[in-house]
Amino acid sequence: MTDEKVLKLPTPRHKGPMSLEAAIKTRKTTRELSSKSLSLFQVSQLLWALQGVTQIEEPSDGKSLHYRTAPSSGRAFPLEVYTLLSSGLYHFKPFEHELYLLSGEDLRKPLSEAAYADFNQEAIQTSPLTIVLTVDNKAALKMTPLLEDVIRYVHLEAGHATQNLALQAASLGLGLTIITSFKIGKVYPALKLPLKHRPIYLLPIGYPPED
Ligand SMILES: Cc1cc2nc3c(=O)[nH]c(=O)nc-3n(C[C@H](O)[C@H](O)[C@H](O)COP(=O)(O)O)c2cc1C
Repeated sequence: MTDEKVLKLPTPRHKGPMSLEAAIKTRKTTRELSSKSLSLFQVSQLLWALQGVTQIEEPSDGKSLHYRTAPSSGRAFPLEVYTLLSSGLYHFKPFEHELYLLSGEDLRKPLSEAAYADFNQEAIQTSPLTIVLTVDNKAALKMTPLLEDVIRYVHLEAGHATQNLALQAASLGLGLTIITSFKIGKVYPALKLPLKHRPIYLLPIGYPPED
């Protein structure tokens, strides 16, 4: 029996037509995004670059270790990824490389109202995909007992992961806006996020308008 809430993502590729150097050179913040749909392959590739599992090691002591596309302090991996498509809101499961449906409603308009700038609101409303990168506060506390360091580390981790996403978007010919200027208190009710998942970035992605 298949679970209708689970959207299995295509296997991400590990080679592409653009060099890393060209992706670094091409990357720039794109605030005007077209509404043209993305393929499931593009969504899969972007999520993999952000938080995909790259390797699983099974050492003889039985304690399995995994690696992701971005580093994590103390191997805590506290980032949680939400994916907003016109078909609804999904939670990304890195191990299974699948999306789990949380809401079948198009939540782009209510989420957009969290952004301060009109042009950021418009990007969320128009783009076919917005990734909401959050941190699981409870998992983050496993990184170090010092609260001050936890706060510092989670933002560094989000930055590492988001740069991978930005480079992957550039290599797919897509544009991405980094939004941090938002009212956090509006994101929680718009997406019905659990309180322990604190939003760090809103990341609308799509084709640049000339495409
Ligand atoms: C931590 C951080 C927060 C940012 N927040 C926003 C934002 O809220 N809205 C926005 O439109 N751009 C935001 N930006 C994008 C910057 O404005 C952009 O990176 C800068 O203008 C340089 O342009 P470039 O990304 O094209 O090189 C942010 C960038 C960073 C690194």
